Amino acid sequence: MNVLVFDTEEQIGIAAGYYMCGQVLQKPDSVLGLATGSTPLKAYKHMVSLYEQGAVDFSKVTTFNLDEYCNLNVKDKNSYHTFMYQNLFDHINIPDENINFLNGNAYNLELECENYEKKIKDAGGIDIQLLGIGSNGHIAFNEPADAFQRWSHVVALKESTIKDNSRFFDSIDDVPTHAVTMGIGSIMQAKRILIIALTEKKAKAIKQLIDGNVTPDCPASVLQFHTDVTLMLDRGAASLL
Ligand code: PGA
Repeated sequence: MNVLVFDTEEQIGIAAGYYMCGQVLQKPDSVLGLATGSTPLKAYKHMVSLYEQGAVDFSKVTTFNLDEYCNLNVKDKNSYHTFMYQNLFDHINIPDENINFLNGNAYNLELECENYEKKIKDAGGIDIQLLGIGSNGHIAFNEPADAFQRWSHVVALKESTIKDNSRFFDSIDDVPTHAVTMGIGSIMQAKRILIIALTEKKAKAIKQLIDGNVTPDCPASVLQFHTDVTLMLDRGAASLL
């Protein structure tokens, strides 16, 4: 794994923004796997800034987001749909029809997940997947479990994740209890993976990702088997290495 440690979140945002845009410059019709949460905010900011400077063109890009809450209107301020439009899609030129999300309100969620996998495959697979990591080692909403869940699926969120994410909601009771997420197999099939982790809250999960046992108890540990993973960490997230 390629482990890069930076002094500031700002520096990581710039490096990650270049990394993602570099992919698009190399292959203008790239398929990007995108993540939500606090972690990628600065990377998206830098991608927008590179676009505004005319350095990169997203008009042929396709995107697949990792996950979405169930039973939350896509227009809700906390939906991942809203997050992505506010922080990236509203500011760059990816055509709307090239933007893909799992629909957490689909009547038949299993079918929705099957169709999402098919869409990723039909698009030629994900060229680069951007990931955050949960303090419990989750990637996307693949929570610690007894077995790795291979493809996109519905998941009941762990209490620790609900607690971590409650900072965005008015009350912890408003945090959805379920989500739809790409599976470990969907993520592992990405050609390249970029993980960003910030603060010492992620240090334990990062240590386990890099040199712990590969176990579904820490879903991120499976990335040890991927051949092209880059980690961009601040000093807090790298503090146990
Ligand atoms: P965060 O979430 O970026 O808000 O810390 C990351 C994650 O849970 O994957």
